[in-house]
Amino acid sequence: MSYIASRLSAVKPSASMAASQAAKALRAKGVDVIDLGLGEPDFPTPSHIIEAAHVAAKAGQTLYTGAAGTAEVREAVAGKFRRENGLDYTADDVVVANGAKQIIFNALMATLESGDEAILPAPYFVSYPEMVKLLGGTPVVIEPETSGFRLTPELLEKAITPRTKWLFLNMPGNPSGAIYSQSDLRALGAVLARHPQVLVLSDEIYEHILFDGRDFVSFGKACPELRDRTLIVNGVSKSYAMTGWRVGYAAGPAPLTRAMAIIQSQSCTSVCSIAQAATVAALNGPQDEVARFRQAFEARRDLVVDGIRRINGLTLSPPEGAFYAYIGCASLIGRRTPKGVVLEDDTAVANYLLNEGRVASVPGAAYGLSPYFRISTATGEEVLTEAIARINAAVAQVE
Ligand SMILES: Cc1ncc(COP(=O)(O)O)c(C=O)c1O
Repeated sequence: MSYIASRLSAVKPSASMAASQAAKALRAKGVDVIDLGLGEPDFPTPSHIIEAAHVAAKAGQTLYTGAAGTAEVREAVAGKFRRENGLDYTADDVVVANGAKQIIFNALMATLESGDEAILPAPYFVSYPEMVKLLGGTPVVIEPETSGFRLTPELLEKAITPRTKWLFLNMPGNPSGAIYSQSDLRALGAVLARHPQVLVLSDEIYEHILFDGRDFVSFGKACPELRDRTLIVNGVSKSYAMTGWRVGYAAGPAPLTRAMAIIQSQSCTSVCSIAQAATVAALNGPQDEVARFRQAFEARRDLVVDGIRRINGLTLSPPEGAFYAYIGCASLIGRRTPKGVVLEDDTAVANYLLNEGRVASVPGAAYGLSPYFRISTATGEEVLTEAIARINAAVAQVE
């Protein structure tokens, strides 16, 4: 009999991490694989942020901090929300955790009762449904494929039940890159206004990676009337190339953020004190690197859209933000590889691209919407160009 708790039985390991591990295993055997599995900026963390961490460590900021974060970091987050999003939160409304992932986990742990439902528009970030299941909830997946991967008020209305506890929004979306306009959000808000039991988790971690001159509108700004049941989630991982520092943050109603801080106090005490000091420097310091990263991501998006569109059998509508391409592969399904393997689904396509094309990607099944595969575009243009050439060669051989 297994000693692993039954709550783990339905939970999968992270698919993007698994894709990266498969690529690493092939590399260890001497195979030259391009890993486009994991989504993290390939830029170094800006030097003034590293310097701030250094200074903090030397100045003795090496002790536990308050569970919700230091006063300085919570002030910096409140300042960021005011300055960049037009949201009026104080430091007391803010909680900091080890990444946006832990913020989301804590929020769900603080609120989900067994059987509560969380509405997830697909394609969704791989961790959302797994966290919901781990904490006893039920993911309710909606597929807004024909509306540009954007949830519509009609689909939302249909999905809400008396057991709905959360609606997850993620903009720009991982993996689709889709964003919502102010009027899109207001239309969703009008539906939510009729269902007071529903909380909203707006994951805005890619807000600075927006293309074609688009402006970002936070859900909190678009729907201030829902403030008492909205959690705005963000973090420094993607905007400041700080994935390994593990700092995420959120602002929301006091009962929720207080409960999240209690969970944190009992599970990990606090976020690394030095990483919190670095976050203050990231949020309050110069923002020119953020703009430079955004520009580089846009150039890569253009390169990938152009390259993939030239490949017969694949489809891609230009992502509006974030650093992924969610590539449609419907026309490959049911066809045969040169080795005679039938590509039954997008998992088979991703396996084929890895083993024969030597490019690691993540199958759409992991994001709840098939048949697609996701590549991360957070890598240099030369590598992306080579990866597209490999994908092209592999797809051309499918009969
Ligand atoms: C939509 C989304 N939310 C949250 C995260 C996790 O961010 P963090 O590094 O802050 O835990 C990711 C990372 O891939 C993501 O894509």
